[in-house]
Amino acid sequence: MDVIEVIVTKRDGGELSTQHIDWVIDAYTRGEVADEQMSSLAMAILLNGMNRREIADWTQAMIRSGERMDWSMLDRPTADKHSTGGVGDKITLPLAPLVAACGAYVPQLSGRGLGHTGGTLDKLESIPGWRASLSNDEMLGVIRASGAVVCAAGTGLAPADKKLYALRDVTGTVESIPLIASSIMSKKIAEGTGALVLDVKVGSGAFMKNVDNARELAETMVALGTDAGVRTVALLTAMDRPLGRAVGNALEVAESVEVLAGGGPEDVVELTVRLAREMLELAGVSGVRDPADALKDGSAMDAWRRMISAQGGDPDGLLPVAAESMTLEVPSTGVITKLDAYAVGLAAWRLGAGRARKEDPVSFGAGITLHVKPGDVVREGQPLMTLHADETSRFDRALQALEGGYAVGEAGSEELLPLVIDRIT
Ligand code: URA
Repeated sequence: MDVIEVIVTKRDGGELSTQHIDWVIDAYTRGEVADEQMSSLAMAILLNGMNRREIADWTQAMIRSGERMDWSMLDRPTADKHSTGGVGDKITLPLAPLVAACGAYVPQLSGRGLGHTGGTLDKLESIPGWRASLSNDEMLGVIRASGAVVCAAGTGLAPADKKLYALRDVTGTVESIPLIASSIMSKKIAEGTGALVLDVKVGSGAFMKNVDNARELAETMVALGTDAGVRTVALLTAMDRPLGRAVGNALEVAESVEVLAGGGPEDVVELTVRLAREMLELAGVSGVRDPADALKDGSAMDAWRRMISAQGGDPDGLLPVAAESMTLEVPSTGVITKLDAYAVGLAAWRLGAGRARKEDPVSFGAGITLHVKPGDVVREGQPLMTLHADETSRFDRALQALEGGYAVGEAGSEELLPLVIDRIT
């Protein structure tokens, strides 16, 4: 097979055959197809798209590039959730132990943050002693001990995606629905979960800025999962404003623990419970225990403590706190009509909560605490948000990111997406 023929076929708007796709993914993983050739093909795909058959073949070829995990030895069904990423999206932290407490096992391979969206592993690593890298046997041990495991994907899982994702990141080819869908689903299918709930975020703080694109991505991923034998549904959810009141690694862990203790912000609780019900229903264990009860009676908290301890973490350990803080005030009396997710995410990132290159460390204590949310009635001078950073020199650029990112106006003039916009099956 000739790589130029594959590139030119897609460049000219043609359809790639199954043989083209199988060959190019395998040859790229082995190093026979060079990065510049693959980046040219990725750009042709971004510009000309792929049809459903091509996307399914692309996904299967990436799964076959590595190992496929198997949880059939477990005595309960498995369910997982994947979020396309957002600002303040800490839902995995309370959700995984909650679903475990209600009767399904949750084997979750997660990632680190890049850019303005945070990564689940970075959040959990702010817990003293917690370890993200586990062998397959250790994963099984954590699942058996606590019902849920959240850890880093090993190098053996969809290595073609690992290589291609890094290439897309530096060649302007991330924002392609076929490439995003196949990238996410190759990892989730290879992870071996029996049921999967996708949380596709919509709005300024998400990959998908509008509902139509988010719906197309969700439908593509649901079809890929279902065809691969994974029971899959997707929710489209709001990311026009941050989720919850905490943005930043340790701050989000603390908020998740509040949710597990039966409190926490309304939107985080509502989405956690909704996603848990979806996962349990897909796994076939709904009706045994309701997730809202498991948050109130402490059983989800017990599962969380077991899960953190089984990965070396101290659930009672003190979380890192940033050395410096600065509180902004509400500029005028009225109602919060806008609190833009991207502006807050970018500001938190500049405060040190995120990384610019994947090798960079994150500051665990850095981030933003929101004292008000859209729709709140406010008075001039009351606290709006607190910025946290290890150095005061970070505040200026964070403040620049927040310019125009919030507004106070008249009641009823706020335009907010509903928390759950749609459900795709
Ligand atoms: N997350 C992924 O895993 N892959 C993408 O392409 C985009 C987001």
